[in-house]
Amino acid sequence: MLLEGGELLHRVGCDPALVAALSALPGQVERNAPLATLTTIGIGGPAAILFAPETADALVEAIAISSRLGAPCLVLGAGSNVLFPDAGYPGVVIVTRALSHVRLHDRTVDALCGVRLPSLLSALHDSGWHSLDFLSGIPGSVGGAIAMNAGIPARAIGDAVEAVTVRDADGAVRVLDRDACGFAYRGSAIRASRLPVVSALLRLDGPAFDGAALLAARRKRQPIAARTAGCVFKNPLNDSAGRLIEGAGLKGLRVGRAKVSELHANFIVNLGGARCAEIRKLIDIVHQKVYKSFQISLELEIEVIEG
Ligand code: EPU
Repeated sequence: MLLEGGELLHRVGCDPALVAALSALPGQVERNAPLATLTTIGIGGPAAILFAPETADALVEAIAISSRLGAPCLVLGAGSNVLFPDAGYPGVVIVTRALSHVRLHDRTVDALCGVRLPSLLSALHDSGWHSLDFLSGIPGSVGGAIAMNAGIPARAIGDAVEAVTVRDADGAVRVLDRDACGFAYRGSAIRASRLPVVSALLRLDGPAFDGAALLAARRKRQPIAARTAGCVFKNPLNDSAGRLIEGAGLKGLRVGRAKVSELHANFIVNLGGARCAEIRKLIDIVHQKVYKSFQISLELEIEVIEG
């Protein structure tokens, strides 16, 4: 059942105080804002409150306000790896789209969490840097890419990290060096502890990559123009989730308007009008059938938000 924004706010139980406090910060506040348009898979009901901070301080303060007033709160970047419920989110979604400042130094770049990876890469190209081109074709934001340790098998963004600024669980803004970030395959200590990323300082003197070639390969092998949330499952050690899903005979399998991509089986495509429940059903079927065929329990890579 799709709740009206008013009802959602009632469930949060802090409507006027919350809206007033967020409205006093630099940024935009919107009530009952559809999340589908903020995600690459195009799914999700309304957020009771959507806040787009215009400064890093406002991001940090908005989290503190939500927590003080007892409202559930999450930080959303480019929405390229996330699945929201059809009923929406009964709290504050803080979207980082306006936090898009990049500052280039001698051999490093400082990027706010909301910087889109394609914009970051083109800013670096202007100065002749190609060491982050392994991120070519990944539609995420810097904050999401750091939390997820986005990348390709040969290199991930964590390899280039000098330091990451996060909002700590106790509310303090803290700078973590690379070791403290705990980067792992498609994950980090930052993701595990759900610490919002404020900004990242990345080294630029790593090996150069051919972004155009990587993008061309991705275009051939992945449904990059379709509505998806990227790879649905992590690759098991020394194997590929796509290979296993294809091997289980699941390419092209459909539930309603959701379909396992024929091009790359680890992508689920929203054919238009798919509901979250259909995607989740397909995820469950794929998980079960791969387990039945190969006795491998695939682990989700995408972030599934519970309603
Ligand atoms: N394969 C199949 N069937 C498929 C898909 C793949 O048999 O439907 C086989 C391929 O033929 C190949 C192997 O599986 O032999 C690996 O496939 P691919 O090179 O496409 O890479 P991947 O392991 O499926 C990983 C990342 C991608 C990243 C590519 C870059 C994960 C889960 N996936 O995919 O990341 O773009 O490498 O080469 O780590 C993402 O994280 O969202 C993502 C898409």
